[in-house]
Amino acid sequence: MISAVPTASFSPPFHQNASTQQKGSFGPRAAVVRCETEPQSERGLEFETGGSFFRHESATGRDLGVLAASLYKKANNRLRVLDAMCGCGIRSLRYLVEAQADYVLANDGNDEYRDVILSNLERAGCGGGDERWAVTHYEANRVLAECYLRKDFFDLIDIDSFGSDSSFLRSAFNALKLDGLLYLTSTDGFSSGGHRPHHSLAAYGAFVRPLPYSNEIGLRMLIGGAVRDASVLGYHIKPLFSYYSYHGPVFRVMLQVVRGKLPDSRHYGFITYCNRCGNSQAIPWHELGNMTCPYFQITCCLWASLDRTSS
Ligand SMILES: C[S@@+](CC[C@H](N)C(=O)[O-])C[C@H]1O[C@@H](n2cnc3c(N)ncnc32)[C@H](O)[C@@H]1O
Repeated sequence: MISAVPTASFSPPFHQNASTQQKGSFGPRAAVVRCETEPQSERGLEFETGGSFFRHESATGRDLGVLAASLYKKANNRLRVLDAMCGCGIRSLRYLVEAQADYVLANDGNDEYRDVILSNLERAGCGGGDERWAVTHYEANRVLAECYLRKDFFDLIDIDSFGSDSSFLRSAFNALKLDGLLYLTSTDGFSSGGHRPHHSLAAYGAFVRPLPYSNEIGLRMLIGGAVRDASVLGYHIKPLFSYYSYHGPVFRVMLQVVRGKLPDSRHYGFITYCNRCGNSQAIPWHELGNMTCPYFQITCCLWASLDRTSS
């Protein structure tokens, strides 16, 4: 049987009186919203968007998430996914059909998307007595915290947010199985471009200044913020891949969360850039005092590894 309601003891979701919902708090900061109601198709799967926030340009980001999920399932013979901000549910549908997820919890804070999410997930055609999916409408931190409190842990948590994900990091780590995958998003191009250094400092611990490689900095900022928060909880992070897309812009990183402190600090440090000669350097914390060039700008506390193969 297909489950369209929470299978465990969720208290009533905040969406119950739609007229009192603060819809503005879930709106995108940048104003590119497409409300399409006609049938859509992605990688051979039919679905509808029903007025939800949806972008065709995000298909590659969804492909990468599904690919990682499929590999995880093959390696571990299990896959439980929490799609914390599912929109119309296309990601959840793809995790069910393409990655053969055993279970997907599709959550979106906006309960007006409920009908379209339900109808899209019914297309997974996975009846036959197993409850393979459920739909909820909680604020993301709440759904993550409730899963943690119930000891209902997930193999992959996908957080496809507007702006910055950093306020969901701790709840997400808590709701993740050990060695599980966390797929994070940032659409904060102002921070990666160095235009809001105090904001990036608050969100990710990185004082980002304008640099000529801001797209890469946006990805390092996101990974660095996750490294910092994970270490507080006694975990460390293995970045599996990162992906920048021009629309949005969108920064996506897939992280594996492993128990234990960061093995050493060489990947978490400073990136410097010389305004005069264009030289960039990755500087570890213990060598910070040796930096002498007066033209250096400092971008603080990022994932600073220049080794593409290490983790
Ligand atoms: C970028 S859209 C998701 C798109 C979808 N994942 C996809 O691939 O098409 C972000 C979604 O997150 C929801 N949302 C935003 N903030 C939220 C929050 N704090 N808790 C739960 N949902 C939230 C919005 O209603 C919106 O549908």
